[in-house]
Amino acid sequence: MQITVTVNGQPYTRDVEPRLLLVHFLRDELGLTGTHWGCDTSNCGTCVVLLDGVPAKSCTVLAVMADGHRVSTVEGLARNGQLDPVQQGFVACHGLQCGFCTPGMMLTARWLLDQNPDPSEVDIREAISGQICRCTGYENIVRSVRWAAEHAAEQPAEAPAGQPTDRPQGVTA
Ligand code: FES
Ligand code: FES
Repeated sequence: MQITVTVNGQPYTRDVEPRLLLVHFLRDELGLTGTHWGCDTSNCGTCVVLLDGVPAKSCTVLAVMADGHRVSTVEGLARNGQLDPVQQGFVACHGLQCGFCTPGMMLTARWLLDQNPDPSEVDIREAISGQICRCTGYENIVRSVRWAAEHAAEQPAEAPAGQPTDRPQGVTA
């Protein structure tokens, strides 16, 4: 089947098998290997991307289901050479160890901050509750998201005119 999926603001058209999972479409068809593949059973959450702005486990979505939709992956978080505040927070607060869960954690954090710019620790833990950090680095992941919330206002306001973006409204970095 031919599908067109807009990934990080850019449309991609490919012929795919109906059984192809979105995680494999991103990794194998588009070469976007920042989306990780862990359990393949909807348990670990390392494959989380934003589908039309909402976190989704891409191992539970067929690529054909994303036809005509927007997908955001970790490769699209930075803009104009500037890391997203969430990425900066993970650096500042040592929010990753092996890094396997990190792309999915950061995308969920981005979604959370778009909904709630000042989340509590409980809010953050609830948001990432469907995702497993094998390194058990939850304390620093929570600190990283709080850092992003506290420093978001320091980020540049807008991308240049004409810059493609598929981010949900409210994402400014
Ligand atoms: S690979 Fe998708 S939830 Fe584990
Ligand atoms: S940093 Fe290793 S799985 Fe989370």
